[in-house]
Amino acid sequence: MSDNNSDKNKSLWGGRFQEKTDAFVQRFTASESFDRRFYEQDIRGSIAHATMLNQTAVLNDEDFESIVQGLKDIQADIEAGNFEWSVELEDVHMNIEAALTAKIGNAGKKLHTGRSRNDQVATDVKLWLRDEIDIIVAELKRLQTGLVDLAEANAETIMPGFTHLQTAQPVTFGHHLLAWNEMLQRDAGRLSDCRKRLNQSPLGAAALAGTTYPIERKRTADLLGFDAPTNNSLDSVSDRDFAIEFCAFAATCLMHLSRMSEELVLWTSSQFQFIDLPDRFCTGSSIMPQKKNPDVPELVRGKSSRTFGNLMTMLTLMKSQPLAYNKDNQEDKEPLFDSVDTVRDCLRAFADMVPAIVPNKVAMYEAAKSGFSTATDLADYLVRKGVAFRDAHEIVGSAVAFGVEHKKDLSEMSLAELQQFGEMISEDVFEVLTLEGSVAARNHVGGTAPEQVKAAAQRAREAI
Ligand code: ARG
Repeated sequence: MSDNNSDKNKSLWGGRFQEKTDAFVQRFTASESFDRRFYEQDIRGSIAHATMLNQTAVLNDEDFESIVQGLKDIQADIEAGNFEWSVELEDVHMNIEAALTAKIGNAGKKLHTGRSRNDQVATDVKLWLRDEIDIIVAELKRLQTGLVDLAEANAETIMPGFTHLQTAQPVTFGHHLLAWNEMLQRDAGRLSDCRKRLNQSPLGAAALAGTTYPIERKRTADLLGFDAPTNNSLDSVSDRDFAIEFCAFAATCLMHLSRMSEELVLWTSSQFQFIDLPDRFCTGSSIMPQKKNPDVPELVRGKSSRTFGNLMTMLTLMKSQPLAYNKDNQEDKEPLFDSVDTVRDCLRAFADMVPAIVPNKVAMYEAAKSGFSTATDLADYLVRKGVAFRDAHEIVGSAVAFGVEHKKDLSEMSLAELQQFGEMISEDVFEVLTLEGSVAARNHVGGTAPEQVKAAAQRAREAI
């Protein structure tokens, strides 16, 4: 026997090959270092496949039972750290199959009947992603619940609302937090769509054309908790839309978290001082003793970039790929894993941190007061007194210019001072110039009035 054909060097396709795979090519083409991550799903899929083959009498009872026992033992070995992964066996699928044959002998060689690694890997990745999605859904709900609780507790806390990062109109802190929750609620919808669409079983598509064995695709789909088998064998082994959709969800969700992060970073600064983050979410500086840095939101903001890159990687990977399976697809794993890890960890960090946010109500209130944030309210007041809106806008603009010059907010001006700009202004103007009056007046669905915020928090909680 030549060295190439000795059992030690024989790969699972050894029959056709005259020459051993180049050692570098072996490492270059292998995926076991990262795809071993879904060993549990691979074993689950194999047990379902074997169960179906046994029921259709392709596998006899004895072989079937020893396959299932062997696979369970392998799973225990992997979990105990007693499994020897081999780069020569290329990927998780062939590592496990070879270990099975080594353990149980000939029956192990029958497991791959009516199956290919092409439908196997598509199944494994879907099962794995589905499991991860369920964990991410839970973290997302935990974060949303924390946000809604904090919003409800701050339904009356007044802060400046911004456009162009300039003080615009007063809003309540609760309203601002519920705006964040809206973003996350849409993300949750995207994630649940993704889960729904991915939940079809590719098993049975085999390499690309299906198989000649009497298989029962619906049976394996049921055993694995899929809603149905996929419709087309060529599509089954080549579709990676589900991974792209997940990466799109992750990118959008991280984009949202980066926006929240940016605001948290601003708000903790000594210029804003709107909130305090407990020390456990911050770090100090090795040189500047006064520093308390908001590292968690900064890092989440930074990590969003990975998920954008991963989405672009996945789209580019699939662009122009001919049907059906191509080795290119092995490149789907690492970006997908990275997006899963990133979005899960960032949501976890946020879910832990949000309930610990301490609003500095005085600083928020003072900031809202100092930025002429009730200027629109004064204009609306003038309109109610019969002034055309454009003229009202002009009048209030002059009053603000006066305030800037004399360092006075509108509510700090005397009636006489205000009347220089419009004699229709009377004593009742001071009701609309207060921050409380301003927010309370926006009392409609989606508005910032405390009453509305409380009702919105209630609805949001039910929707989570
Ligand atoms: N490791 C491969 C992947 O990740 C498994 C499928 C390989 N199939 C094949 N015919 N080369 O996609």
